Amino acid sequence: MKYRRSILEGVAGYVPGEQPRMPNIVKLNTNENPYPPSPRVLDALRNLPADALRRYPEPLSIELRTACAQRYGYAGPEWVVAGNGMDELLAVAIRAFVDPGDTILSTYPTYSLYETLALLHGAKAVLVDLDDNFQLTEAFFNIRARMCILPRPNAPSGVCVPRETVERLCRTFDGIVVIDEAYVDFSDDNCMDFPKRFENAIVMRTFSKSFSLAGMRLGAAVAQPAIIDEFLKVKDSYNLNVCAQAAGLAAMQDYDYMQANAAKVRATRARVATALSAMGFNVPESQSNFLLAQWNGQPSAKGIFDALRDRAIIVRYFKSRRLENALRISIGTEEEMDLLLAALQEMIG
Ligand SMILES: Cc1ncc(COP(=O)(O)O)c(C=O)c1O
Repeated sequence: MKYRRSILEGVAGYVPGEQPRMPNIVKLNTNENPYPPSPRVLDALRNLPADALRRYPEPLSIELRTACAQRYGYAGPEWVVAGNGMDELLAVAIRAFVDPGDTILSTYPTYSLYETLALLHGAKAVLVDLDDNFQLTEAFFNIRARMCILPRPNAPSGVCVPRETVERLCRTFDGIVVIDEAYVDFSDDNCMDFPKRFENAIVMRTFSKSFSLAGMRLGAAVAQPAIIDEFLKVKDSYNLNVCAQAAGLAAMQDYDYMQANAAKVRATRARVATALSAMGFNVPESQSNFLLAQWNGQPSAKGIFDALRDRAIIVRYFKSRRLENALRISIGTEEEMDLLLAALQEMIG
């Protein structure tokens, strides 16, 4: 029996055997969108004919991929692969392009799933420390690896490395460069044009955050057709069910709705960042739908996390190097953030 590292370790608050679903909590720990998905998504789901459920789904998600290609400025579906969440696409990318024993390069800190997927695949993960401003250091450019995965904006800092830095990486890195843009709809710019210019670039998106569809499990990766072909060879045949395909298509067709919600989240983010800074937190400039609130006072960050949880306000605490004095706070509704700020004010104000 071989004991492997569990993918569920990265799921916030997951306790084996017990996944409580508490009503009436202010849930600010997994960077979900506080606003509902587009009404057109709900209509599309309601209008699915019974036959659509009786039959297997279309295996290549062509309609959804075509809609994504159009939206992202690409010629057609051959530039896009759709996935059962971006997490699936990360796993499929590793399966397609990395052999056991190869190295996958990323940063520290970063989204912990990268390392877990690498280890489960029998690959090595090299995580190069970001500097104090969560930027890449020169050391990162000196590592040789089969694949490099860079979240932009970074998780859990929310900080973006400059586009030019990613461009340099695509130009100089001798391997596949995965640019994880899970949170990019909350950012000022993006790297969606890179696959046109670099044959090793893959840009990944998720519908979980800006489109409010975390429960549906939907993601997309954009890359040159030769790369997309490799994904299609190793993905599960029916990786997207009919509901996900219909929901994704409707969401893409109501892009303005998503952008309006993202703008609301960004406005709340600015207000909360200012309020947290006034309380003495150090808050790196976030381009995401969450804030990393760094705290060196008393009570400790862990103490604040526990006290918030006692009030049914759940934020994210990482018991790991460089993050033990910080809380990651997802941006909720204005009302939810008012509750959070009032609770913090009482604790530390
Ligand atoms: C940086 C990053 N990438 C990818 C994902 C996964 O997205 P999905 O819900 O599409 O699997 C997350 C989810 O939290 C994330 O934080």
